[in-house]
Amino acid sequence: MTVKVTTTVNGKPVSGDVEPNTLLVHFVRENLGLTGTHVGCDTSQCGACTVHLDGQPVKACTMLAVQAEGHQVTTIEGIGQPGNLHPMQAAFQENHGLQCGFCTPGMIMAGIGIADRAKGTTLSEETIRIELEGNICRCTGYHNIVKSIAAGARDM
Ligand code: FES
Ligand code: FES
Repeated sequence: MTVKVTTTVNGKPVSGDVEPNTLLVHFVRENLGLTGTHVGCDTSQCGACTVHLDGQPVKACTMLAVQAEGHQVTTIEGIGQPGNLHPMQAAFQENHGLQCGFCTPGMIMAGIGIADRAKGTTLSEETIRIELEGNICRCTGYHNIVKSIAAGARDM
């Protein structure tokens, strides 16, 4: 049995037929072909699957596609384009915030959330490190990731 999911992804209405237990990350990757959202663990630990739901970072492997019904989903493909990068994407590029790049989409989506929550305050390195607890970089490039998020937050 399949169910129909109708939602908005990167500002466009989309729909698809999925098994009721289909995870949002699989709907995004397989039904919509938006493969910038990665699956690193499937156990809610790594954050590679982070997207925004109504503007808040969520792990797309921890929710069902049907739970996105009627909500606004934003993936890494929806925040900037080559030649017109989002400030957080540009900051990762400028501060060498990636090595293999596998964790990067999730780090950027989490980083935008951190910057949004810190608006109007000074975002400390300690806060960034605490808030990034749910995002794992297997290349262990944390120093430059934190630097990138601090720079991206200043430019947002
Ligand atoms: S794939 Fe979702 S947290 Fe790792
Ligand atoms: S840059 Fe390789 S996993 Fe983070």
